Amino acid sequence: MFPTETYTARRRRLRKQVASGVILLLGNGPSPVNYPDNCYPFRQDSTFLYFFGLDEPALAAVIDVDEGTECLFGDDVTVDDVIWTGPQTPLREEARRVGVAQTAPSQDLAFVLEKASKRGRAIHFLPPYRPDLLLWIAELLGFPPEAVDELASETLIRAVVAQRSVKSPEEIEQIELALSVSYQMQTAAMKMAKPGVVEREVAGAMAGIAMALGVRLAFEPIFSIHGETLHNPFHNNVMKAGDIAVNDSGAESPLRYASDVTRTIPVGGQFTQRQREIYSIVFDAQESAIAAIRPGVEFRDVHRLACVRLVAGLKEVGLTKGDPEEAVEAGAHTLFFQCGLGHMMGLDVHDMEGLGEDYVGYTEAIRRNPAFGWSSLRLAKAVEPGHVVTVEPGIYFIPTLIDRWKAEQKYDAFIDYAKVETYRDFGGVRIEDDILVTDTGSRVLGPPIPKTIAEVEALASA
Ligand code: GLY
Ligand code: MN
Ligand code: MN
Repeated sequence: MFPTETYTARRRRLRKQVASGVILLLGNGPSPVNYPDNCYPFRQDSTFLYFFGLDEPALAAVIDVDEGTECLFGDDVTVDDVIWTGPQTPLREEARRVGVAQTAPSQDLAFVLEKASKRGRAIHFLPPYRPDLLLWIAELLGFPPEAVDELASETLIRAVVAQRSVKSPEEIEQIELALSVSYQMQTAAMKMAKPGVVEREVAGAMAGIAMALGVRLAFEPIFSIHGETLHNPFHNNVMKAGDIAVNDSGAESPLRYASDVTRTIPVGGQFTQRQREIYSIVFDAQESAIAAIRPGVEFRDVHRLACVRLVAGLKEVGLTKGDPEEAVEAGAHTLFFQCGLGHMMGLDVHDMEGLGEDYVGYTEAIRRNPAFGWSSLRLAKAVEPGHVVTVEPGIYFIPTLIDRWKAEQKYDAFIDYAKVETYRDFGGVRIEDDILVTDTGSRVLGPPIPKTIAEVEALASA
C-alpha cells in the first residue's frame, strides 16, 4: 500500500473536482467460476484501489462531497469465516490505514443512499463492467438494470480519468516493478522458444515466473506462432524451426499496476532473411514513434507516423507501392497493421477502458475516426507529462483479409498483391514497450528488454 497521504490526497482532489453530491465507489466482489466457493482469483476494481488502496472483496465507499465525509462499508469476518480464511484485519483498522475515519456494515449502505436520494442529492457512480455490481447499483438506487449505464455520472468519470491518467513517481515505480517481472518473463521465453516445444510450456513458464515472484499476470498472455491473430488466446502449437513467436504478456506489480510488453522471437535462434526484413520495419516504426512522443503531441499523429514508416519499409521489400503518405491517407496500411498503435496503461492494462475508451483517449475536438484500423485506436489525444502509453506497431499477414481485399482489388494502387501472396504464411511481428511521457520528451520504462535482432537472436540461440 502507498502511504496514507497518497490516498487522502487523491480523494481530496476527487471531492474538489466533483464539487457536490455523493460519490459511490464499489469494490469488486468474489467471482465464482463454477460454484460459489470456487472463485476466479480476486481482482479489485482499479478505481476503488486507486482511491482506497484496499485489496479485499466486497467493500464499498461513500464520499459525501458537500459534508467532506467518507465512509467505508464492509463486513468483518465471523468466527465461522475465520475457520476457512484465517483471521482478517478488521475493517476499522484497514480504513484507518488509508485515512478513512468512518466504517459501517454493508447493510447500512442502502439506508445511507436512500437518505441522500430522498433529499434530492446527486449520487455519482461509475459505469459497472461486472453484472453483479450493475445489479447491486440498480437495487441500491432503485433503477432498472438496463438504465444503470446511462445514469452513470459523467462528472465522476471525467474526474477519475483526469486523475488516473497522470501517474505519480510512486506509480511509475510500481509500473517499473511490473516491468522487471516482464524482463524475466520475456528473456525466459526467448530462451525456451525452441523447435519441439509447445507454446503452452512457455506461457506456463511465464505465469510461473510471475507467481514465484509473488505477483500475477496482468492479462492472459499471448504466446503464439500465429502472431497474425492479434489477440490469439491459444497456446497449443508445437513450435518448429523457422517459426516466429509473438510474446505479448505482462505482469501486475504488488500494488497491481500493469506492464505490457511484446517481443517477437525466432524459434530456434535465427530469423530468416524475410523475417529480418519485416522485423526491421516494425522496429524502425516503433523507434520512430517513441522518438516522436513528447508533451503536446497528439497520439493519433504518432500512430500515423508509425503507419507511414511501416508502409515505407514495406515498399522497400516490394509489398507496397506508391507514396507511403498517400497510401496511409487512403488506408492501405491496414492490410498489414489493422489496429491502433497503443493505449494508456496503469492499474489496468488498457487503462480505465471500463470507464469508456473515448473519455480516456479522445476529446470533444479529437473524435474517433470510424475507418477500419483507425477505429481501433484507443488513444488519439495529445499526451501530457505523467501519461504512460504503450507503443506497439506490428505487421500482420492475415490470409482471410488478404483473400478478401485481393478479390476486391482494394487499394491495389498501393499494394502488390502478387508479392503479398508469397507472404501469406508469414505470421506476424509485433514489438511493444511502455513509455512515460516526461516534461521534455519520453522514457521507455523498465529494464531494457532485448529487442534488436542481435539481442533477440543471442538469447533465442542460448
Ligand atoms: N496485450 C494487449 C495489448 O497489447 O494491448
Ligand atoms: Mn500487449
Ligand atoms: Mn498493449
